Amino acid sequence: MEDWLSWMDDISNKDYVIIDHFLREDLYTEIKSFFLGQLPAFTLAGIGALEEHQINTKVRGDFTYWLDRKRDANLEAYWSLLDETMHIFNRYCYLSLSGYEFHLAHYPSGGHYDKHLDQFESRNNRMISMIIYLNDAWQPGDGGELEIFEKDGSSFLVEPLAARCVMFKSAEVPHAVLEAHKSRFSLTGWLLYQPSAMGKFFG
Ligand code: OGA
Ligand code: MN
Repeated sequence: MEDWLSWMDDISNKDYVIIDHFLREDLYTEIKSFFLGQLPAFTLAGIGALEEHQINTKVRGDFTYWLDRKRDANLEAYWSLLDETMHIFNRYCYLSLSGYEFHLAHYPSGGHYDKHLDQFESRNNRMISMIIYLNDAWQPGDGGELEIFEKDGSSFLVEPLAARCVMFKSAEVPHAVLEAHKSRFSLTGWLLYQPSAMGKFFG
């Protein structure tokens, strides 16, 4: 719990927090093997919500698989962790979160995601972005770093290391994914102001 309080402090003060070893080893292994098993079912991701939705690999080159709590019930330990996370945000950051949407993401070599915000103009219920990296042996030169832009316009890179978690305010923190030079895996999602059953239609 002490850890959580200092993470909440970070996100309140800086709009983002980076947490190493966020997942226990058994949960990491469970999620990673689930991920690899679902790879054939991934589809090319799009940008924008509803009628603005489009596929544009110049902007974004990852493949995604939207998770569903009922269908993907064997990830129960992960769903519980999300419930707990949401609860802590509500309690200590005074947010009114009431749901989440998550997808697995695979950037093949050459994939990237241009600088963007995670809130859509037409749909602004994404409050907190949460990314967990699943790259067992990431090394400098593998690419796929997350670039985070600060308010003063400066930026820094976050290496997509196994079990590292990055959380940030979806409406506040512009970010990009640099070109991956190897397959890059993550579990990415959003804590929502209102629950959405629609996420999987947006890409
Ligand atoms: C996204 C995104 C960042 C990352 O999916 O919106 O910005 O590091 N992902 O995977
Ligand atoms: Mn994003």
